[in-house]
Amino acid sequence: MLEYKNYIFPGFEMRHSYQKIIAKIPNEPFYTNKDNNCTLFKANCLDVMLVIPPRSIDMIFADPPYFLSNGGMSCHAGRRVSVNKGDWDKSKGIEETHKFNLEWLKKCQDILTDNGTIWVSGTSHVIYSIGFAMQQLGFKILNDIAWFKINPPPNLSCRYFTHATETVLWAAKNKMSRHYFNYTLMRSMNNNKQMQSLWSITAPKPEEKVFGKHPTQKPLALLERIILASTRERDIVLDPFTGSSTTGVAAYKLGRYFIGIDNNKEYLDKSIRRLNAEAKSRRFVKQEIKKVERELAGVSP
Ligand SMILES: C[S@@+](CC[C@H](N)C(=O)[O-])C[C@H]1O[C@@H](n2cnc3c(N)ncnc32)[C@H](O)[C@@H]1O
Repeated sequence: MLEYKNYIFPGFEMRHSYQKIIAKIPNEPFYTNKDNNCTLFKANCLDVMLVIPPRSIDMIFADPPYFLSNGGMSCHAGRRVSVNKGDWDKSKGIEETHKFNLEWLKKCQDILTDNGTIWVSGTSHVIYSIGFAMQQLGFKILNDIAWFKINPPPNLSCRYFTHATETVLWAAKNKMSRHYFNYTLMRSMNNNKQMQSLWSITAPKPEEKVFGKHPTQKPLALLERIILASTRERDIVLDPFTGSSTTGVAAYKLGRYFIGIDNNKEYLDKSIRRLNAEAKSRRFVKQEIKKVERELAGVSP
């Protein structure tokens, strides 16, 4: 007789339960939300990814240190400032950077499901190492998205073109993967034309920064598009360098499970404020919908 519990319908992967994955991680969660679908860990991401069951995560978004805080200058709010995002962003040299990239990318590859995908953002300081490491590890690179920032800060030295783009690499676990892509949705979000790999999205809006500053915060619109393109509802999304948890906020809004890791408490505190605010606004919307439904049904409040 067919063993029901071991039978996987063709085309479906055996799914890991989110709660079981969290239970396997010995670290105490730094935060779990009330809906039990977002968990943050304060740790080195290498340690946490080591204990996550292999082939359990559907999608990873990683915005790793770019290692660009090395005494250069930049322009912020019209003023010349030195680039110093924190000690975590100081370079130890290109060999060390590449070794680090290989190490965390290998761990990501292990925990991705067979058809899972990873997105990694970066500037020229780090993206070539990331791309090479992906090739060395046998990922299948699907796209290199050019994120055009629309309104970037000017280049004060006037010796270079203004830096206006970041690259986001999208890759499948390996050559055998049958990755998920919501082509229809992306097309419909683009006036019913195929969406191209050039994405024009502004830097985070002021309202995305009301809960404190993260020096390299990504715009919510970027993460929403990434999640919608490459995951289904209730999929499990992980961000090993979660910072202020832009990925977590987008995942929560879109009904995906989320695991975020960062080794900086200050950034995780900001993540918590953002995630709690998102939950509060969702509860408010739900209450308002209920009110309208009752009014329409003629039930007095
Ligand atoms: C580029 S930022 C991510 C910003 C994030 N995407 C956002 O929207 O807020 C990189 C983050 O990685 C964290 N980090 C650096 N090394 C780490 C490590 N080994 N393990 C976990 N987090 C790390 C830093 O504290 C920083 O917040």
